[in-house]
Amino acid sequence: MGFPAQRIGILTGGGDCPGLNGVIRAVAKTAQGTYGAATLGIEDGFEGLVEGRMHELVPRELSGILALGGTILGTSNKGDPWHYPVETAPGKLEIQDVSYKALRNIERWGIDALVAVGGDGTMHIASRLMAAGVPVVGVPKTIDNDVAATDVTFGFDTAVSVVSEAIDRLTTTASSHHRVMVVEVMGRYAGWIALMGGVAGGADVILLPEIPFRWEHVFRKVNERHASGKRYSIVCVAEGARLPGGGEVIRELDIRRTDAKQLGGIGAVVAAEIQAGTGDEARVVVLGHLQRGGSPTAADRLLATGYGVAAAHCACSGQHGVMVAMRNGAVVPVPLAEATASQRTVPPDHEMVRAARAVGTSFGDA
Ligand code: F6P
Repeated sequence: MGFPAQRIGILTGGGDCPGLNGVIRAVAKTAQGTYGAATLGIEDGFEGLVEGRMHELVPRELSGILALGGTILGTSNKGDPWHYPVETAPGKLEIQDVSYKALRNIERWGIDALVAVGGDGTMHIASRLMAAGVPVVGVPKTIDNDVAATDVTFGFDTAVSVVSEAIDRLTTTASSHHRVMVVEVMGRYAGWIALMGGVAGGADVILLPEIPFRWEHVFRKVNERHASGKRYSIVCVAEGARLPGGGEVIRELDIRRTDAKQLGGIGAVVAAEIQAGTGDEARVVVLGHLQRGGSPTAADRLLATGYGVAAAHCACSGQHGVMVAMRNGAVVPVPLAEATASQRTVPPDHEMVRAARAVGTSFGDA
């Protein structure tokens, strides 16, 4: 146990997702209401911590934001203090360790506990800050649902709803035109969005990073449907799925990010292969950032509120070095080290994979 906190800093790091504002609101209201503690909103994730951009959150800012997508604080996935892009000359970027600036700002601003809301990248940085002596509490967010030590992250339910609704819409046009519609979804190295969104939308083929696929199995599924009179198919592919005999499809490399790889583009490859391999007309739709935007679902608002309240209790009562997590239906603190030890990917025999197979969905592996 650390010391109780009277001045909490909060930041949102990495890609945004619906529910972040619900966490900010719950942390600040609980800190103030239960402990009389102030909350400093740090702007643009760790960038704001390094650059000393923050302000005390006032009640006006916390009103009416539960249903608001994005983050009122701003975020960035290029602000890792130990891997910080610095322009040393016009057009010349250098990656530097500027963690001393982040630590100095924590002291300057009198932050006695830091709530870091983010995905696995943010949890790794939070752990390093903890090791450097900063009392930290993590809150797991990401549409990817790939943070270890928690059953679920907020933002995921909203993304799955977007995918499911998109597939519903694409199904009617695919059916009218007798086409194969390939839907590329996000998720990085985890296939959770493709799996859950694909099953919810009734996709005929789901391609995941965790289950290697072969073209002939994908073609066979499409051909079988065609032969049985169903002249359209829906293929839901995770951006991180690996091509047969190849690797991930990478859109861009960006050295300013801790993980330079930006995935994207596999949908177009899958559509072209299916068109060539089956003779059926194929189209691709990349859902992209639509999955991250807009209002959170009710489930994500509840999760965000539960996580935010729990994080404020941990921060203000001196329970640091933890991440709040959902375990078997209850919000509990778990050691940060557990959250950073691994990445949570889809077990190939996950019950939803088995359910999908039972209703005839192909994963391109048989
Ligand atoms: O981690 C969330 C996520 O949306 C991933 O699913 C995706 O690969 C990545 O972020 C996209 O990042 P950016 O918004 O920087 O393009």
